[in-house]
Amino acid sequence: MKMGKVVMVVAVMVLFNMSSCSAWFGGNKHKSGRNSILPSEATSSRSRLLNPAGSSIVLPLYGNVYPVGFYNVTLNIGQPARPYFLDVDTGSDLTWLQCDAPCTHCSETPHPLYRPSNDFVPCRDPLCASLQPTEDYNCEHPDQCDYEINYADQYSTFGVLLNDVYLLNFTNGVQLKVRMALGCGYDQVFSPSSYHPLDGLLGLGRGKASLISQLNSQGLVRNVIGHCLSAQGGGYIFFGNAYDSARVTWTPISSVDSKHYSAGPAELVFGGRKTGVGSLTAVFDTGSSYTYFNSHAYQALLSWLKKELSGKPLKVAPDDQTLPLCWHGKRPFTSLREVRKYFKPVALGFTNGGRTKAQFEILPEAYLIISNLGNVCLGILNGSEVGLEELNLIGDISMQDKVMVFENEKQLIGWGPADCSRIPKSGDVSI
Ligand SMILES: *[C@@H]1O[C@H](CO)[C@@H](O)[C@H](O)[C@H]1NC(C)=O
Ligand SMILES: *[C@@H]1O[C@H](CO)[C@@H](O)[C@H](O)[C@H]1NC(C)=O
Ligand SMILES: *[C@@H]1O[C@H](CO)[C@@H](O)[C@H](O)[C@H]1NC(C)=O
Repeated sequence: MKMGKVVMVVAVMVLFNMSSCSAWFGGNKHKSGRNSILPSEATSSRSRLLNPAGSSIVLPLYGNVYPVGFYNVTLNIGQPARPYFLDVDTGSDLTWLQCDAPCTHCSETPHPLYRPSNDFVPCRDPLCASLQPTEDYNCEHPDQCDYEINYADQYSTFGVLLNDVYLLNFTNGVQLKVRMALGCGYDQVFSPSSYHPLDGLLGLGRGKASLISQLNSQGLVRNVIGHCLSAQGGGYIFFGNAYDSARVTWTPISSVDSKHYSAGPAELVFGGRKTGVGSLTAVFDTGSSYTYFNSHAYQALLSWLKKELSGKPLKVAPDDQTLPLCWHGKRPFTSLREVRKYFKPVALGFTNGGRTKAQFEILPEAYLIISNLGNVCLGILNGSEVGLEELNLIGDISMQDKVMVFENEKQLIGWGPADCSRIPKSGDVSI
């Protein structure tokens, strides 16, 4: 199981010691003035390339909420470009790869470790600044940008920021080599529960270092990302305008929290009825497999479920350790279809001056799983237990079978019904 990848604390230590790593930090640093966009074929001319308002990138996803616990995407990075499987995380900014710098601590990776380029991002670069905990950070090595990121699930990574080439296919058929910053993560610290065997992480947050911010600042796509996670597994993510806005419900991105895709205040709605549990802030985060409610909302959910399930043929199954709360039936269940009749939808009603403006509905399929023991388990967990305090984290499970759109230009979060197994092609991308 994987918990919130939202960045909780960022503190930097200049751990990287030049002398002990002279193998690659020694000479030949930081080539500036390199063209950031290199057409991958001599024949593609800039004019054929892109119309930033209309171009987009769509990438297929692999994975599921249970049993895999995450969705991954393949990116081709480096010269020559090599494939890497990355965990998709809208809760943090930086894209990084486990890196042979050499690596102090790396977990097992599906591909050989990334070999760093020598195209260093300098310490005073705004991208570097955006990864530091304070504005007056220390630059012991002005030519290099050291960072440390601590995620909510106790995973942390130390690395150095570099530029390298990403090979990207746009939906208009153009393939480009785009030079952008990425992290060379040479020391990952994690507990067994946060471990998963991937090459790195794709950061899709709102900060400057995020891949979408970098693509946008090079004029390649609008500053919009989105995803569609299929309950059958798989789905896609997109950069730019690859969604049908006619079917999307919008709510403003909260201005209080500049780091995350958060919205609020919202009120809890159970089975179509307002609960009075309000003033909730919701953070949308693909870095988390499950959804977390704060202690108050979680308590209300448990009481409601207990009432709803009384007299139904479902009994608590304390032996099932898959998730904190599971129920068994008379016989093992094989599919959510068999149990959804016992459960009602949960929703977050986003309010504005007391009126509900937009409802984010969480159907039973988006808060329950069937464990491998054939029990049905609650995929909404107690966030207070894992230190999320007042935050409510909307994880992968509750965003399944919806197109989720994060409009950074208009500061809006949107969602709508979607068939996530149908990956949009250039022809059916509407603006
Ligand atoms: C990531 O996706 C690839 C398909 O591109 C798949 O083969 C691989 O098993 C996935 N990796 C993990 C760790 O799930
Ligand atoms: C990009 O497009 C090329 C052909 O135009 C294709 O061979 C390649 O697999 C695509 N890459 C990705 C990552 O989709
Ligand atoms: C949620 O977690 C907090 C902190 O551990 C705890 O005090 C509270 O009782 C939990 N709520 C429920 C309903 O289990």
